[in-house]
Amino acid sequence: MYEIAVIPGDGIGKEVMEAALTVLKALPDIEFNFTFAEAGDECLSKTGTALPDETIELAKNSDACLFGAVGETAADVIVRLRQELRLFANLRPVKSYPNTNALFDGLDFMIVRENTEGMYIAKEEEYTEEGAVAKRIITKSASERIIDYAFQYARNTNRSKVTGVHKANVLKKTDGLFKEALYEVASRYDDIDVEDFYVDATAMYLITRPQSFEVIVTTNLFGDILSDEGAGLVGGLGMIPSGNIGEDTGLFEPVHGSAPDIAGQGIANPFAMILSAAMMLDFLHEHESAQKLSSAVVKVLEEAKTLTPDLGGEASTMEVTEAVKNAL
Ligand code: NAI
Ligand code: MG
Repeated sequence: MYEIAVIPGDGIGKEVMEAALTVLKALPDIEFNFTFAEAGDECLSKTGTALPDETIELAKNSDACLFGAVGETAADVIVRLRQELRLFANLRPVKSYPNTNALFDGLDFMIVRENTEGMYIAKEEEYTEEGAVAKRIITKSASERIIDYAFQYARNTNRSKVTGVHKANVLKKTDGLFKEALYEVASRYDDIDVEDFYVDATAMYLITRPQSFEVIVTTNLFGDILSDEGAGLVGGLGMIPSGNIGEDTGLFEPVHGSAPDIAGQGIANPFAMILSAAMMLDFLHEHESAQKLSSAVVKVLEEAKTLTPDLGGEASTMEVTEAVKNAL
């Protein structure tokens, strides 16, 4: 029995969460205890805080956390949750599925982004009237931790190469350290190849030869940008799941937001949330169930009979969910 904290949030966050819970409950041989918690815009107007302490406590004390999406309070909620739960690794798979808007067939690589430091410590100072300064922190310990995670991930998923991405030619101290850590960690993994590229070149290679990547590991800001480029490669926010991994727990969420333009219509694509739930199953070492769930999604996509409007279909969120359930 797994203890799962469930934070549906706002707008379509609630709709896709219902979809994910429906298919998780339909999985054989695995039991969950789902506990709901509040966060987001509605929570703010109801309780005066966008992220109540009880929600943080519940998430901390669960085996894993499922997060839908919130609205304008995203920075106060999801960014803070990542910090409070010490979720140091952000996982963004770039995988092409049939009958989607993917630009390339057959892509299947993982972007592993450092989630705790780099540019996003957001230590900005007023400098002069002419400008301001932002500090960027790269430490040896956080670099080694994220790089080691990437190599472990490669090994566990039968991948044979890790690509480190940086800008060490210009940022000699910070990214120099990251590059050094890459090769230091790599020396402990004889079975996995290593290479490194500058971030600007990588942005081009993602378009010109995305098939050559297996696992990319990089610092916070570069990872944020490259993973959205990866999302563009495989088309459509409704398809992109993600994971935030810490030592103690993991939080799994679709990349999309609360989509106020379609909220309440019951037409949100539930695949990103369902695939996030599959990533959670992998995190819980329930690989067989994870595989079952993603195969069911692939089957529904291949049949192309029950798809939401963003994928060119006419089905509702719950019709797609039922189709996935039947495919299980
Ligand atoms: P968004 O991801 O909510 O929507 C962007 C566009 O993609 C919209 O046209 C929407 O209809 C469409 N879309 C997104 N998910 C979809 C799905 N599952 N099925 C079908 N269509 C889908 O991003 P936007 O519009 O920039 O932000 C809306 C709100 O969401 C804002 O308040 C923002 O702060 C919040 N947000 C929250 C995030 C989170 O909770 N992690 C992440 C991104 C935005
Ligand atoms: Mg982003």
